[in-house]
Parts: sequence; structure tokens; C-alpha cells
Amino acid sequence: MIKNILVTGGAGYIGSHVIVKLHEKGYNPIIIDDFSNSDKSVLDGLKKITGKEFKLYEGDILDQNLLNQVFTEFNIDGVIHFAAKKAVGESVEKPLLYYKNNVSGLVSLLESMTKNGVTSLVFSSSCTVYGQPDKLPVTEESPKQPANSPYGNTKQIGEEIIEDLVNSNTPLTAIALRYFNPVGAHPSAEIGELPLGIPNNLVPFITQTGAGLRDHLTVYGNDYETSDGTCIRDYIHVMDLADAHVSALSCLEEQSGNSHFDVINVGTGKGNTVLEVIKSFEKVSESNLNYQIGSRRPGDIEKIYAQVDKSQKVLRWETQHSLDEALRDAWNWQKKLSNI
Ligand code: NAD
Ligand code: WQD
Repeated sequence: MIKNILVTGGAGYIGSHVIVKLHEKGYNPIIIDDFSNSDKSVLDGLKKITGKEFKLYEGDILDQNLLNQVFTEFNIDGVIHFAAKKAVGESVEKPLLYYKNNVSGLVSLLESMTKNGVTSLVFSSSCTVYGQPDKLPVTEESPKQPANSPYGNTKQIGEEIIEDLVNSNTPLTAIALRYFNPVGAHPSAEIGELPLGIPNNLVPFITQTGAGLRDHLTVYGNDYETSDGTCIRDYIHVMDLADAHVSALSCLEEQSGNSHFDVINVGTGKGNTVLEVIKSFEKVSESNLNYQIGSRRPGDIEKIYAQVDKSQKVLRWETQHSLDEALRDAWNWQKKLSNI
């Protein structure tokens, strides 16, 4: 039987790629999104890729009436919860906006799931919960560091809320996926990342610079204790990340009926420096990127990459795509957006 999966934030960057994978694997995704950080054009992209128009509820996950309506109209088998605000700097300026949207939003969703007897959840968490780990690669057992932004705190609190609910014997099976750095786009270039305004993240800043929308990229520091002095991250292709969600749903299906909560790293297991990412972009775009070395960005982590043993074992999943493929797909998407 086709399974109905509610995808909150399904019009967003990661959510839209997960919709494609769910469709490919025979699930029926149902989207809730308030389009606060996405554009309706993503629906055209999804239709071009899948040939399908997905059921969409336009609205806020804080709206209990809307959530109850969805759970009444569809027999929902599981929920993937992406809907959240994600700009670290903005969260420092507007903490209440972040606690309301990300924390109260999660509580609202969990209340409605509980009321409607929906017991499977995949939660979008982040490697930000680790801060700068003492040991690399970072395992799920590494202690969480005090969050250095309200955004990061919402992910720590979110995990704790879910764990508390599971421990209360409320029937709930949940997996928090701790994403490392998602990059790239669907290889068709029909969907991809759509940052509003000046991008905070490295790869959209690189592709926008390559497209001439930004004059140059500033590399935030080259005096770190790394091979070339620039920071290290674990960049994962968004299509690989999307696959991990489908694997997580299969795990939840196997565990259904048992109250259980697990956290799992989702990364490649490999770290790359900022300069390596730039080199990869230059290779796939066959162009030189205009970049300058600047000072360190306050709050940046020096290096982090995932230990992937648990994702391989529990999710029976591993990444398929290289950094070059991710940069190639991100660049093709940018070229499409910029009509290059
Ligand atoms: P995104 O902003 O592209 O997608 C989030 C979507 O949720 C958007 O379409 C937005 O309109 C929607 N939304 C936000 N608040 C909502 C609300 N209250 N009700 C309904 N819809 C709402 O972000 P993304 O990059 O796709 O991230 C998805 C999730 O993954 C987020 O929870 C984010 O914190 C987490 N995450 C992202 C990254 C990353 O680097 N992109 C890394 C780690 C974790
Ligand atoms: C990557 C690297 C920068 C821009 C952020 C959030 C984190 C998580 C992912 C959700 C760093 C360098 C960047 C630029 C640069 N999101 N850089 N010039 O810092 O790993 O994390 O996104 O949970 O919470 O904080 O990602 O893409 O911003 O930076 O040199 O213009 O690129 O210093 O080393 P980051 P990023």
C-alpha cells in the first residue's frame, strides 16, 4: 500500500529534494509549507522532475487547526519535519522568532501527531549541536556543546523534546538526523537552493559569485590548524541527504510500535577545506573564482566531519556522490537561475 508521508517545510531546499526521492520510492508525500523561506516555483520544478502535482497545504505548522485538518484528511503514516528557520545570524538578532517557529512549531506538530495517533517522525537536526568537537570524526556519542546561537539551541532543545516525549511512553518512534553541510541540487537543475538575499553559506555564495551576482567571495580566515589554513566541513550532496530520509523512514517502519528515539549523523565522513571547495568549483565550472582571503568569521568552527559508522549500520545507507558532483549540480542550478 502506498504510504502517506507528511513533509513539513517540503517546499524548502532539503524538503523539495526529499519529495523527489519519496516519489521515486513509491511514497505519497503531502506538503505543509508557509513559503516563508521558499518560492512556489519549486512546485513547477517538482512537476517537471516527477510529472506529478503533490498535495500542498499552504500554512503554518503552529496552526493546530491546519495540522488536524491534514491528519484528518489523510491517513498519515509518518512525518518528516523540516519546517524551521535556519539563519544563524538572524537567530541571534531575533531569538524569540526562532524559539517560536522552531521550538513551538515542533511542539505544535508533536501535539497534533499525538492527538491523531501518528507515531513515526524524522526530525532535521544539525551537526551544530556538537560545536567544536574534541575528537574527529565526530560520533553521535560526542557531548553536545553549549549552543552558540539561538538557532543551534532550537536543534538541541528539539532533540530533547522528542526524547522526553518518547521517554514518557507516548507511542512515538523518532530519528533525528544530524545533517552536516548539505550542498548541490537535483541533477536536472529543476530544483535547488534558493537563498533569500545575500547567501550566508559557502556554496551558494560561490555559485552566485561565479554567475557575477557577487563581486568576490571572502574566505573567512586561512590561519586555522588545517592543511591549507582554511576551515574544514563535511559537505554532503543534497540528493544523498534526501536518500538518508527514505532510509530513515524504512527504519521507523521496522521499529513501529516501539517507543524509540535515535540520533544519527548524516555526512560523507570526509572533511574538505574552503579552498578545496573553491578548487572543485573552478574545475567543474572551468572558470576562475574571484576570491580573497579575509579575517575569521566569529563563531566559526575550525573543523568538523562525521563518523558515519552508525548511519551505515542503522540506516543501511551511504553517500554516492562526490564533492565535484555536488558543485557541478549547484553550478548547473545557478546557471539556470541566472540564465547563463
Ligand atoms: P529551507 O528554509 O530551505 O526550508 C524550510 C522550509 O520550511 C521553507 O520552505 C519554509 O518556508 C518552511 N517553513 C519555515 N517555518 C515554517 C512554519 N512555521 N510553517 C510552515 N512552513 C515553514 O531550509 P532547509 O535548508 O531545507 O532546511 C530544512 C531543515 O533542515 C531545517 O529544519 C534546518 O534547520 C535543517 N538543517 C539545515 C541545514 C542546511 O545547511 N541547509 C543544516 C542542518 C539542518
Ligand atoms: C562553511 C565554511 C566558513 C561563507 C552553517 C550553520 C550551521 C549549519 C550549516 C544548519 C566555513 C566558510 C562561508 C563565505 C567562507 N546549518 N565561508 N566564506 O559554517 O558550517 O554552518 O550552515 O544547521 O548551523 O552555522 O556553513 O556554509 O556558512 O560555511 O569562507 O562567504 O565556509 O567560514 O568554514 P557552516 P557555511
